[in-house]
Amino acid sequence: MIKRLIVANWKMNPPSLEEARELSSRIEHGLLTMDRTKVEVVICPPFVFLPILRHLLHFIRLGVQDVSAEEMGSFTGQVSVRQIGEFNCHFVIIGHSERRALGEKGQLINRKIHAAIKHKLEPILCVGFGTKKSFTIAQIKRVVKKQLQEALKGVNFRKKNRLTIAYEPVWAISQGLGTGRAVSPGHAAKLIEYIKLEVPSARVIYGGSIDSKNAPSLAAQKVIEGGLVGGASLHFSEFIAIIKAFSQS
Ligand code: PGA
Repeated sequence: MIKRLIVANWKMNPPSLEEARELSSRIEHGLLTMDRTKVEVVICPPFVFLPILRHLLHFIRLGVQDVSAEEMGSFTGQVSVRQIGEFNCHFVIIGHSERRALGEKGQLINRKIHAAIKHKLEPILCVGFGTKKSFTIAQIKRVVKKQLQEALKGVNFRKKNRLTIAYEPVWAISQGLGTGRAVSPGHAAKLIEYIKLEVPSARVIYGGSIDSKNAPSLAAQKVIEGGLVGGASLHFSEFIAIIKAFSQS
């Protein structure tokens, strides 16, 4: 069985380096007493914290929240895969709904996926649908399929390229466009099963308002191979409880 994956998406938090240092050290310490053979933990902090966190973390792996599709050159404000590689990062979130809301589209997401794979970073591709809860499963599947096809065009899975896909329905995210309510474990399992049929070699996780209360019932669905955690990953005890839930069931 693939190790379950819990990813902290810190977004533009915490406000200071000191807090980032303290939070990550506490999480690392919390992992000491856990069975780490069943779960892999990743923190995706803002870029600016990478130089410090890379020296602090031993059990936790590092990732980033976005990357440029370009290799180098005149791209103001962007950071390349090669630059990220210097900081011992292994993962990159690509196509998050908060980036799609800024205008990022399938073709650009696809170029970023290729850039990440070329530089041996594992993409965590986010797919999801709409801001309303009222869509049917069939409608969601149709849009998720299109997002997968666009994002993964030309990717060669036979080369053992590792890929994680996060099913993140936009309405379920805790802030911004979301309602703050996770989907039911059954809904998440159904969509994840569907994504696994479409992309059998990917590890598929769920994201959207995961917290210590709903983590056990989400984790009880074996098909859910982990979680992408935003808000709750900024609270030490919440995040540790989520990791525990996914490492125990
Ligand atoms: P949330 O965020 O856990 O705060 O809903 C998840 C995400 O946006 O990746």
